Amino acid sequence: MSSPLGGNLNPAVDSAGGLLSPASSRFLSSLDTSPIRATLFPGDGIGPEIAESVKQVFNAAEVPIEWEEHFVGDKVDPRTESFLTWESLESVRQNLVGLKGPMATPIGKGHRSLNLTLRKELGLYANVRPCYSLPGYKTRYDNVDLVTIRENTEGEYSGLEHQVVRGVVESLKVITRQASLRVAEYAFHYAKTHGREKVSAIHKANIMRKTDGLFLKCCREVAEKYPDITYEEVIIDNCCMMLVKDPTVFDVLVMPNLYGDIISDLCAGLIGGLGLTPSCNIGEGGIALAEAVHGSAPDIAGKNLANPTALLLSSVMMLRHLNLNDKAERIHRAILNTIADGKYRTGDLGGTASTADFTKAVCGHL
Ligand SMILES: NC(=O)c1ccc[n+]([C@@H]2O[C@H](COP(=O)([O-])OP(=O)(O)OC[C@H]3O[C@@H](n4cnc5c(N)ncnc54)[C@H](O)[C@@H]3O)[C@@H](O)[C@H]2O)c1
Repeated sequence: MSSPLGGNLNPAVDSAGGLLSPASSRFLSSLDTSPIRATLFPGDGIGPEIAESVKQVFNAAEVPIEWEEHFVGDKVDPRTESFLTWESLESVRQNLVGLKGPMATPIGKGHRSLNLTLRKELGLYANVRPCYSLPGYKTRYDNVDLVTIRENTEGEYSGLEHQVVRGVVESLKVITRQASLRVAEYAFHYAKTHGREKVSAIHKANIMRKTDGLFLKCCREVAEKYPDITYEEVIIDNCCMMLVKDPTVFDVLVMPNLYGDIISDLCAGLIGGLGLTPSCNIGEGGIALAEAVHGSAPDIAGKNLANPTALLLSSVMMLRHLNLNDKAERIHRAILNTIADGKYRTGDLGGTASTADFTKAVCGHL
């Protein structure tokens, strides 16, 4: 059963929707109080400021996490072909759990995008974004409560582009049965373990018959195994219209990469913007890498103006994944109460509070 706030009330199942991950079961089985090691990528721009906020809140709440911090390098590591080092990736593989701030994509050739490197190298196949109205923060809707699950590894983001002849370029959209089944399984399992009733597959199979057609076929196959979950298919353009008209008609949405990228930001807009929306990437071997969905916000970086809510809520998803439900709930409530209180809101929410003021207020609400 999920809480209206998107949290998981069932301690036997991880919050990101999977079965207990190796990381969480390791913690449960050890039954000791030694800290759990988690990788932290503060990232670029406002990343270090909002990561500092998470560290302060975790300290105040006495969360038993030991951070292993990794920074984006200034040289390309030939082993990863990106500014992320092999050691950084190994840290996530070892710890199986981590938190990531925004990473700016350096312009230039000869290296891979940082986010793409993480997704590919760690097999982060599903991006899960709960999106729910925050009590006390007024937007057009008061009752948004949905989850987008985005296929994270292929589709239009396969990076296969070339010039056919001068003036004509081609980009390959790759959809595979394996990746589609994997994300569909994840979406239905998430729905089942979070007390959700419906999964909507979002597509454009009326035009892209082969690629989106295969994606839908895989969703239908998986849907048959979950007779208690209602399954529907919605064309992407209609989905956008329905979302802005009445978001309550949706519950869990599963979709290929590009649609997921766009729809999840649209959903963030329904509840007040990117500064408020958490996410968690689920990867091979039980990896969970939680991340704020916004970018590095270079316009406000270093000015103590960033809203740390999205990264804080992402850290709450990470704690639920680790089955640290009491700590997660405590921090979650403190964030929501701070926002509802209205005294300390950052500029993006119409307030004048600094990142440090907001963080202090959250600690005060613990
Ligand atoms: N997941 C990621 O790591 C990720 C995601 C998106 C963009 N990026 C990178 O970030 C850089 C900047 O991208 P962009 O400008 O398009 O998007 P952005 O999300 O950084 O900023 C868009 C707007 O939202 C504001 N904003 C974003 N997060 C905020 C927060 N927490 N608090 C207050 N205001 C906030 C910014 O000030 C800006 O006005 C680019 O290099 C891009 O590649 C990274």
